[in-house]
Amino acid sequence: MAKQLLSLLLLFLSAMGLVAQQPLMIPDTLSGNQIQLRLQRGQTPFFNGRLTETMGANGALLGPTLMLRKHQNVTMNVTNNLGEPTTIHWHGLHVAPENDGGPHIVIGDGETWSPSFEVLDRASTYWYHPHLHEKTHDHVQMGIAGFIYVRDEEESRLALPRTYGVDDIPLVVQTKAFDEDNQVITAHTSQDSVVMVNGVIKPYWNAPAQWVRLRLLNGASERVFQFGLNNNQPFFMIGADGSLLSAPVSMTRLMLAPGERAEILVDLRALEGQVIQLMNFGSQIPNAHYGAAQPGMGGGQTIPGYANNPLNGRDFSLLEIRVGTAIHQQVTSPPTTLVGHQPWTPADAQVTRQLVFSSMAMGQGAINGPFVINNQHFDMDVINFRVPFENIEIWELRNQTPIAHPFHIHNVPFYILDINGNPPPPHLRGKKDVVLVPAGNGVVRFIIHFVDFFNDTLPYMYHCHMLTHEDDGMMGQFLVLPPCQNISQQPQTQMKTEGETAQFEVGVDPQISATFQWQSNSGFGFLDLQNAGQYSGVQTAVLSVNNLLASNHNQLFRCRVTSSDCEMFTDVVSIQMSNLSTDFPSKSSHPFLLYPNPALEFLHVQTQARSFNITAFNSMGQRVYEGQDRIISVKNWPSGWYFFHIMDQENLSIHTIKVSVK
Ligand code: C2O
Ligand code: CU
Ligand code: CU
Repeated sequence: MAKQLLSLLLLFLSAMGLVAQQPLMIPDTLSGNQIQLRLQRGQTPFFNGRLTETMGANGALLGPTLMLRKHQNVTMNVTNNLGEPTTIHWHGLHVAPENDGGPHIVIGDGETWSPSFEVLDRASTYWYHPHLHEKTHDHVQMGIAGFIYVRDEEESRLALPRTYGVDDIPLVVQTKAFDEDNQVITAHTSQDSVVMVNGVIKPYWNAPAQWVRLRLLNGASERVFQFGLNNNQPFFMIGADGSLLSAPVSMTRLMLAPGERAEILVDLRALEGQVIQLMNFGSQIPNAHYGAAQPGMGGGQTIPGYANNPLNGRDFSLLEIRVGTAIHQQVTSPPTTLVGHQPWTPADAQVTRQLVFSSMAMGQGAINGPFVINNQHFDMDVINFRVPFENIEIWELRNQTPIAHPFHIHNVPFYILDINGNPPPPHLRGKKDVVLVPAGNGVVRFIIHFVDFFNDTLPYMYHCHMLTHEDDGMMGQFLVLPPCQNISQQPQTQMKTEGETAQFEVGVDPQISATFQWQSNSGFGFLDLQNAGQYSGVQTAVLSVNNLLASNHNQLFRCRVTSSDCEMFTDVVSIQMSNLSTDFPSKSSHPFLLYPNPALEFLHVQTQARSFNITAFNSMGQRVYEGQDRIISVKNWPSGWYFFHIMDQENLSIHTIKVSVK
């Protein structure tokens, strides 16, 4: 309680300009192909009197900024000297699950973890932080977090401020709770009453009178910030979590939830000799966000101690900007366009997944959680989703709780499709990896493409980035499944005439057990064929389409095959309606079956027809066989696709059958 009074006093005095301020700390940088991070304990002089026990990377608090370039290779050597296990996660980077540093990749005390990977991300601001199961809030609050800058060609071509520490400044905004002894409280309380930027309470920054680029990171465990300048001058947002935007967006207020980043440009050219404040306009944060006057949707929904926290619902300075002389005038006016974006459209998506956030507590207490996703509490041993490799998916997030939650997903960034049914505002149209889902049945849909990495045992995480919620179980995990190796028989395009039946067949290796779902596309995307049924626990599935009509021409089919370790779609095949029925009466035509298909050594011809002639062509159209045999040796044929044209000589009908030779 004394600490809260102190911090209230601090807010009050600093508003009057009466509190000693500290220079802003600018983290050191590390670059190159080998990065060394040593996680260690230390002490930080936050207050007069007793030092605060903290944790950092290569120092007592926070960590160096990692400077990476797209397509470079990097090895991160992370040595854990904390005296307890932890992990380090590269938040926002697109890496394989074994390099991601989620809760499964524990670095034991005294151990070094050395993931190596190629940087695949677009230029933007990313960060790293611990991610140990149930300890993320603890280790981040103790002080471990650092920036990652990714640069690329696209970004380099733009006239943007990029001199680190001069006109390109990383700013991590965090709040912490302290006890009477100046020690960080890591228990889940709502007493985070001390605000700091780059680990400094009441910082000032000696800025040059020129365009500056601020890279804002909300590194708080729970709190949402509403950024703005005290003179209300507009600034330009140029980057979201995982990319630059297509064009700068002018704004005077910007809300960032935990985990989110934004790059903004501020024009300080006319302000030489003046002082402005980067503010949190907490009084303007709508209710039902942590940080607003009311954390819930109604007055009764409150968090114990929340009302006593002087930061809630209040406006306060985060950083004092003291504008001095310009150091160099690289940028006279920022670019009007930035980078290209080609978001996927809902029609590209293979599946929509529903994720519903709810509270395990009822009524007014619901705001205190614990919160769960799809009624499932996080379990390290449960895989919540299995995503087929290279799937494009829509994730639909529905928040049935009274407080907004910032949803974060590992592996790949996404594009927001809509928020409560409305297209995202321009500043949320870049690539994102955190999205704030509004309270009270708010719905956010995003679209995402699961490329480059798969692993049938090691999952990626998705979770609320309020770290207390995450640690309390508001998290799930998904595998990106390897492409199936075991589809042994693919369906084939059918050349048919009216009234006939088309049969598509898919088969898997006998040792696996699979589920099959046929799908068809008549021009509106692939839809499950309900009547074709789902077959499970069998090795083959046949789809019959009876009484074909001319309108079946060009109809597309495929089958979704799911086995224990993979999921994929077969080749897309079609029905081709030929007009052979008018040239050759097919009513009396004998059916022909060629088997096995695929064929290894011999191909059998099964038919009631007494006289027929077979011509086979390879996929290049070269004739490889002609004859009347009922058993054809294909042993020496190169493996691949062959087309068999069978002329039924009794009724002059022609049959085309595609055969695979292994
Ligand atoms: Cu920034 Cu899974 O976290
Ligand atoms: Cu992450
Ligand atoms: Cu949450």
